[in-house]
Formats: sequence, C-alpha cells, structure tokens
Amino acid sequence: MDEWQPKITTFLCNWCTYGAADLAGVSRFQYPPCFRVIRVPCSGRIDPKFILAAFRHGSDGVWVSGCHPGDCHYLEGNYYARRKFALLKGLLEHIGIEPGRLQFSWISSAEATKFAEVANAVAEEVKLLGPAGYFIKKSADVA
Ligand code: FES
Repeated sequence: MDEWQPKITTFLCNWCTYGAADLAGVSRFQYPPCFRVIRVPCSGRIDPKFILAAFRHGSDGVWVSGCHPGDCHYLEGNYYARRKFALLKGLLEHIGIEPGRLQFSWISSAEATKFAEVANAVAEEVKLLGPAGYFIKKSADVA
C-alpha cells in the first residue's frame, strides 16, 4: 500500500523561490510531489485569508516562500509578509492548528539546492503531523 502523502499548498514568489523551484527541477534535485504551487508576484501579496482558505479546502500544510529580506522586488513586500505571517501563526495555534503546518522561507532564484532541502524538510514536518481534516466544514456540521 502507498504511504500517505500530505497535500501542501505552496505560495512561491515569482522573482525568487519560483525560479529556484524551476532550477531545482531542471537540475533534477529530488523533492516530494506533494506541493500544489501557486505563483504570486510577491510574498507581500499573500493575504492571510488565502492561507486559511487553503486549510479549509483540505490542505494538510501551507508553505510560503519569498525573496530574502532586503531583496524584495517591491522593496518592502516581504517585510510586511513576515509580520503578517508571524501574527497568523499565533492565531492558527489559538484555533487549534499546529504551527508546524504553516511554513515560511526565503529562497533566492539561484538557491535550487536550498529549495530542495527546504521542500524535503517542510514535507517531512507536515507528514509527521498527519492529515488535517478537522478544519474542513462537513455538510453535517452546517445546519
Ligand atoms: S518580490 Fe519576492 S518577496 Fe517581494
């Protein structure tokens, strides 16, 4: 029987980590196939509501990765993102979602090796936490 694989919604900044993912693929670096990638123009563009929606729609984990602090193409997008995500992580813990299900990283487009390493680490951490179905509204709950 196949081993359970988590579903991880992944928001990648177009200018850095998306490029690193592309380079990792071209370089044939190995990482698990559990990531559903959404390319965004900047990590600052990610509304915390997107992350909550991903969990509500069945993601076992969410990974957000953008440019290194100081390298954002829109100057301060990743600084705003960092603040938003720190607050969101606290909120998730408060509503019963393990903080390990939400992961952030800063990876430049030249760091394909780092991309593969972080992808493996994120997949492993979410896998250890198991399925996260309790956040999904079931039809029987709606009445
Ligand atoms: S452009 Fe990459 S994080 Fe802002």
